[in-house]
Amino acid sequence: MQGAPSDPAGLHHVPVLADEVLTGLNVQPGGRFIDGTLGGGGHTRLLLQHTRLTRTEAYRNSRADGVAGGQVLGLDVDPAAVHRVRKRFPGEISAGRLSVAQAPFDQIERIARQHGFTGVDGVLLDLGLSSFQLDTPARGFAFRHDGPLDMRFDPSTGSSAAELINDSSREEIADILYQYGEERHSRSIARAIVASRPVSTTVELADIVRRAVRSRSRQNIHPATRTFQALRIAVNDELGQLARAMAQIPALLRPGGRVAIIAFHSLEDRLVKEWMRDNARKFRSDPTLPAGGQEQIPVLALCTRKPIVPAAAEIEENPRSRSAKLRIAEKMPEQ
Ligand SMILES: C[S@@+](CC[C@H](N)C(=O)[O-])C[C@H]1O[C@@H](n2cnc3c(N)ncnc32)[C@H](O)[C@@H]1O
Repeated sequence: MQGAPSDPAGLHHVPVLADEVLTGLNVQPGGRFIDGTLGGGGHTRLLLQHTRLTRTEAYRNSRADGVAGGQVLGLDVDPAAVHRVRKRFPGEISAGRLSVAQAPFDQIERIARQHGFTGVDGVLLDLGLSSFQLDTPARGFAFRHDGPLDMRFDPSTGSSAAELINDSSREEIADILYQYGEERHSRSIARAIVASRPVSTTVELADIVRRAVRSRSRQNIHPATRTFQALRIAVNDELGQLARAMAQIPALLRPGGRVAIIAFHSLEDRLVKEWMRDNARKFRSDPTLPAGGQEQIPVLALCTRKPIVPAAAEIEENPRSRSAKLRIAEKMPEQ
């Protein structure tokens, strides 16, 4: 996530953990990378900058496809993000250094193959939502702005948050709030939502939650924070998307290529941590082997045992970076 309050058009987002991502992905001139979450194009801009070859390097490495310099393939499921990035980098797109696609990242392998992006040097996922989305009331992500209760990353498909809470049972709503928001007051909030239906705006929902937990909440965050997070995760199937995308990433990396994932809440981070850990100690069944027919074939090597978090100075400059956790792993040589 990133933020630049003086930039309401969202054209110049501040990428989170920028140096850490560049170092972690081992970005070198001539490299080829996939940015699975373009957002405002903040990380993509850095990838383009740091993969650029000098004239001499370009001559020495002269590539069969005539592209001098590294290449980036960027995806975002949000059509507005894709439109913004296309407008931001027309030169790189026409030079063949940047390809952009509007697609959810659980389609990453198909899109990458379509664009010839296999055997890449790195894949980045910077999860969650961009400042542009958060700060646009019409998108319905923020309880601080009044807007329709939408929350879809791609507003052209699926059900909005309003449809979800107006059409689900009290138990289903409580489960969503508990599972995806780790909300202790899930049942009382669900009861209050059902009693106030139909609910159609962000501020209406925020007020319902505030009234439902008023006397019980000891949190120092806004009482609606967890409810909004939970609904956003459910509306966009964020954890399902992440799990399906991660499963495809190793096949896209060259041996030694890296995957970097920035998570913004504990559910995402746990999924990333477990996926990296499981792929760093994968077992293959082989009945010809002794010892129960199991052979260990790790797919990834962990580059970070603990997540990398922003330094105090970054948090001060960009408070939205405060919950970021970056994990990195490297693809092992084929066996
Ligand atoms: C935190 S922002 C990325 C910011 C970007 N790294 C930058 O520096 O500008 C996350 C972006 O991921 C996109 N996104 C979220 N879920 C997605 C998914 N399943 N597939 C593709 N994009 C997704 C959102 O639409 C949003 O634009």
